[in-house]
Amino acid sequence: MDPSQVKIPPTKDLTVDNITENVLRTNAVCEDERTKYVLERLVSHLHDFARETRLSSREWMAGLQFLTEVGKICSEVRQEFILLSDILGLSILVDSIDHPKPPGSTEGTVLGPFHSHEADDMAHGDCLSRDVQGEPLLVVCSVTDTRGRPVEGVKVDIWETDSTGHYDVQYAGRCGPDGRGVMRSDSAGVFWFKAITPVPYPIPHDGPVGRLLRLLRRHPYRPGHMHFMFEREGFDHLITALYLRNDPYETSDAVFGVKDSLVVDIGRAGPEYAKKYQVPEDHALLTYDFVLVSDAETSALRERNSKVAMDHLGRKVKMVNGLPVPDLD
Ligand SMILES: [Fe+2]
Repeated sequence: MDPSQVKIPPTKDLTVDNITENVLRTNAVCEDERTKYVLERLVSHLHDFARETRLSSREWMAGLQFLTEVGKICSEVRQEFILLSDILGLSILVDSIDHPKPPGSTEGTVLGPFHSHEADDMAHGDCLSRDVQGEPLLVVCSVTDTRGRPVEGVKVDIWETDSTGHYDVQYAGRCGPDGRGVMRSDSAGVFWFKAITPVPYPIPHDGPVGRLLRLLRRHPYRPGHMHFMFEREGFDHLITALYLRNDPYETSDAVFGVKDSLVVDIGRAGPEYAKKYQVPEDHALLTYDFVLVSDAETSALRERNSKVAMDHLGRKVKMVNGLPVPDLD
């Protein structure tokens, strides 16, 4: 880009009190309305954060050093920025804003840093886990839309830890995926598989995020859970998880992901289930009925929520591609 062709408003002699408006004026040359708005709010809040805390240079340098360390520890299998977003409650907040759910539908929760695209396709009844130490668990689920109609052909991605609380990607010498798989719902909207009963585990805490948790006197544990991701054209992408009731960390999840509607009891297979799914009687059993929301329902709800939130802030906005930008007309 030729600097002489860029029209930047003149800025000079900036002070604590006028720096923000001048940076915003400079960024306002940006042609994309949504990028401009997001950057405007980001800069405004960052500047207010510095002014409100009377941030010292030493503290800001420590913050930058921390973010540098977060970046340096990231790899293909270690996503420290996702962890940071998770423990600050930002991941669950963004999910709640972007994937609003009407009553009766399945709520979403944090993706976490351990989803992988390596999972093998599974047939109904296959076992997700090779871990023989885990407690075998039969999982029988259904998928319907918000009107209760079964949804066929939904791609369901499932992942869980082994019985020691580690995901496959956390093992350096692993051979292929384990504790994860992909399957599709049948014509009745059903999918079922064998797995192991989830156990609580600490998120990786040997890096900068772990140090931050210790500084805040927080523990790194998540209650036992199994992750699910649902994809089917016409439906809002659902990332969720099922959590075990009465887990010691049910109400103190390090990443704030637990919602009551996603907390489940592990039952026991009666004679009917045992026969139908070929497991011994009294086998551990998890059942759940997932309800997906259509793209159209989600868009309408997201837009409605945006308008209410913007009205509340006293902002005049218009919607562009389903997202608010200032309405300057
Ligand atoms: Fe997890």
